[in-house]
Amino acid sequence: GKAHSPRLYSIASCRLGDDLDSTTVSLCVKRVVFTDEETQEEVRGVASNYLCDLNEGDKINIIGPIGRTFLLPEDPAADIIMVSVGTGIAPFRAFIHHMYKQDIKWKGQVRLFFGAKTSLDKLYMNNQNEDISQYYSIDTFKAFEAISREAKNPDRRYVQHTFEDNLNDIWSIIEKGDFSLYICGMKGMEKGINEVLQAKAASVGLDWDEMRDAFKKTGRWNVEVY
Ligand code: FDA
Repeated sequence: GKAHSPRLYSIASCRLGDDLDSTTVSLCVKRVVFTDEETQEEVRGVASNYLCDLNEGDKINIIGPIGRTFLLPEDPAADIIMVSVGTGIAPFRAFIHHMYKQDIKWKGQVRLFFGAKTSLDKLYMNNQNEDISQYYSIDTFKAFEAISREAKNPDRRYVQHTFEDNLNDIWSIIEKGDFSLYICGMKGMEKGINEVLQAKAASVGLDWDEMRDAFKKTGRWNVEVY
């Protein structure tokens, strides 16, 4: 009986909102456009186009937030590893604002790995939206990009490649034990990250599947893919 089923969008602002005055909430929405296989007509996704075509001041109905998952630990000494592709960066923008824009004084090590098709898809790191990169000067923050479809760069880099390049650093954070790891974005990206960690664990005589199950139980391994 409903015209449309609900669509989920990650909140891309910290809990105080972009202006830190608790009056706004931000989303990062990709406009979905696809070709209908039968008619070959261009079809536009219902919710994403509705949101992208809104005008300032329009009123909309929302539901949520849904569940208590994908939250940062309370302790600002915890180390944080974030891995994203595309709009999967949305919750990490919120995390980074929470850690650095608010007066939290995050002390733990923070690593961000983000994948995009082209440099123009680096959602919060381009001329219009210079945002996350302003935290690059913080000693404990490091961000690494993987660009997969740029014509000038025939060597396709996916996020798991960049993750693997930094494996010694990541493994030392995992071994220290006070970390939370988050994976967000395209379905299937967890596989590549898992394989990298599985190989590393095996090389030091450990069973990654067992380790990951234990990390899941203690809230250290968090995955939100769609
Ligand atoms: P719609 O649902 O209308 O279409 C989606 C797909 O359905 C199309 O791409 C196509 O494959 C298929 N389809 C529909 N009708 C068809 C037809 N007639 N013929 C052929 N194929 C057809 N997105 C985002 O932009 N930012 C975010 O932060 C998040 N976060 C998020 C978190 C979680 C937990 C989930 C589960 C999902 C997201 N998403 C998201 C995705 C978002 O919820 C939503 O799925 C997309 O915006 C697409 O919704 P539309 O209503 O625009 O497309």
